[in-house]
Amino acid sequence: MSRALAAVLLVVVASASGCKRESAPAPSPAPSASAKTPRRYVVGMSQCNLGEPWRVQMNADIEKAAAKHPELEVRFKDAQNDSLRQRAQVEELAAQGIDLLIISPKESAPLTKPVADVYAKGIPVIVLDRAVEGDAYTTFIGADNRRIGREAGKYALKLLGAGKNVVELKGLMTSTPGRDRNAGFREGLELEKHPGVKVVFEADMQWLEPNARKEMESALAAQKSIDLVYAHNDPGAHGAYLAAKSAGREKQMKFIGIDALPHEGVRYVREGILDATFLYPTGGAEAVELALAIFSGRKPEKKITLGTRVYTKENAERGGEALD
Ligand code: FRU
Repeated sequence: MSRALAAVLLVVVASASGCKRESAPAPSPAPSASAKTPRRYVVGMSQCNLGEPWRVQMNADIEKAAAKHPELEVRFKDAQNDSLRQRAQVEELAAQGIDLLIISPKESAPLTKPVADVYAKGIPVIVLDRAVEGDAYTTFIGADNRRIGREAGKYALKLLGAGKNVVELKGLMTSTPGRDRNAGFREGLELEKHPGVKVVFEADMQWLEPNARKEMESALAAQKSIDLVYAHNDPGAHGAYLAAKSAGREKQMKFIGIDALPHEGVRYVREGILDATFLYPTGGAEAVELALAIFSGRKPEKKITLGTRVYTKENAERGGEALD
């Protein structure tokens, strides 16, 4: 689609210079005032917070992809982890007259109506990573969190063998990845077939490392034996590791996280802090590509599912292993 856009621009430039050409070769004339300037597009990007490296990466991916297309302007908003603020920022962007909205919502329920209102105005909306309810948006882009949770559950079984006690530190359960990573994990564990495996402690750490560390302190105080910690993101897994380490118990258990940023989760795996992490791609570049496709008139799909990879000590050096 960016090719289609380039083709359109070529036609405009060719016809503008063509109409001024004279028989004798002459330097190309300066474009006349009436020559068509290429259309510019303004994209609003509503980010739910920038407190975590993964979200900083998502914005950087969007910026990098958009920089290749001078006709695009991206206006970023950071809701600082507050759904009400995010709602106000979405309204503000729409009032500015954007051509398309990209949103990575904090929570599904409170952001559903603001997104639907923008969509009802005829502004295309790309929902990225965390979903909203219903279908009043153009396209959802994200990885399959249920699948990732299921793979994490299967991997946990492999690490655990016959046993035993599992701690699950959940992402915000009012957001769709938290719910899906939880449901998928339980499917992967197949507790009915593995009566020796028990989830002995679970808590919502809201995606935040300091919360995960606190919750893990409670888990350690309540449970003499913990064999594995599954956290819904790498900051959560790292927080749990730090709590276990300060109790002198980190070597007694395995740690699994999700996100696999090179400088975060993958580094933890290489350093032996985490036993595995699953890639959760930001989708930033894909969102920009889709925005361009929409501007060039292509009808977008309703859902774009991104793939995942697993990183373990064995495969981290060679870039992990694709699961799709
Ligand atoms: C960042 C984050 C990631 C996680 C994603 C889920 O805010 O918590 O760590 O994978 O959001 O939406």
